[in-house]
Order: sequence, then C-alpha cells, then structure tokens
Amino acid sequence: MKKVNFPIHITEIESLEELSRPEQELIGLSRSMTRNAYAPYSEFFVGAAVLLENGEVIKGSNQENAAYPSGLCAERVAVFSASALHPGKKMKAIAISARSDNQTMDHPVSPCGACRQVLLEYEVKQKEAITVFLSGETGKIYRIEKVRDLLPLSFTAEDLGKL
Ligand code: THU
Repeated sequence: MKKVNFPIHITEIESLEELSRPEQELIGLSRSMTRNAYAPYSEFFVGAAVLLENGEVIKGSNQENAAYPSGLCAERVAVFSASALHPGKKMKAIAISARSDNQTMDHPVSPCGACRQVLLEYEVKQKEAITVFLSGETGKIYRIEKVRDLLPLSFTAEDLGKL
C-alpha cells in the first residue's frame, strides 16, 4: 500500500499587470460578460471568454432556468458555442470570472466539476493544452496551464478506448 498524490498546479497572479495584454483582454472580456448573465435565481453572475487559435474570442455567460438543472454554466455556454461555431479550431485559453449581488467576489471563481469535465473533453480532443484563467471582480487571478491540472484522476476518451 502506498499513498499517491495528484497535485493541482496553479499560478497565483497578484494583479492584471503581471499578464500579457492579450491575457488581460481575455480576462476583461470574461468580466464584462458577467453583465450578460441570466441568473435571477442564484444572483451569481459568471462570464467566460474562449480564445481560439485564429484569435477569435467566443463568449458566454451563465443561463439559469426556473427548472434549476436546465440552466447552464458560463464556461459550458462558451465552449459549446466555440465548438459548435468553429468545430475545427483549437481553443488556446479560457477566462472565467464571477460577480455576485450578495458578496464582493474578491477571489477567483472555481469551476464546477461538470465544467472541468467538459473543458477536458476539448483539451483531449485537440491534443493541445487550454490555459484557464480564473478571477473574481478584484483580487488575485489563477492561471492553470492545462485543464487536466484542474481535474486529477479524470475520465476521458482514453478510458473508453477511443484514443
Ligand atoms: N456557475 C457558472 O456559470 N460557472 C462556474 O464556474 C460556477 C457556477 C453558475 C451556475 C449557476 O448559474 C450559478 O453560477 C450559481 O451556481
């Protein structure tokens, strides 16, 4: 018997200025997309921006529903849209940000398990890392170099013999 560790590697960024201009812009877009969220139930507003290899950015925000599970998280709205509109284009990075009416989001948002799984699907499919930026309205920003780092011990196409 032995203990095995599956570490999560995250870069903590103190302020936007530490990032490149395109990275800052992607995070800015995800923050502005929180304004497009339809979240009357949770009052938790999430925005996402996916940078494609051709430089195009596909945006999303969370969309809720009176039948709660019918809603969808911002990052899934964005990556599903990116894949639907540009099926052959690789996703280079995604920025995800959150804002709330009930608290000041001074820390990075944490993507739910289902979103991590969905993001990983595309990373595995395109065989190239997708960089993930997580932020709130203020405070530190997390950069994760690849989605796999957010989902240790993951289940992928490989487990189904499809890779
Ligand atoms: N939500 C997202 O859109 N992304 C996340 O990373 C966390 C949670 C949404 C789902 C729901 O509309 C609201 O935030 C509260 O859970």
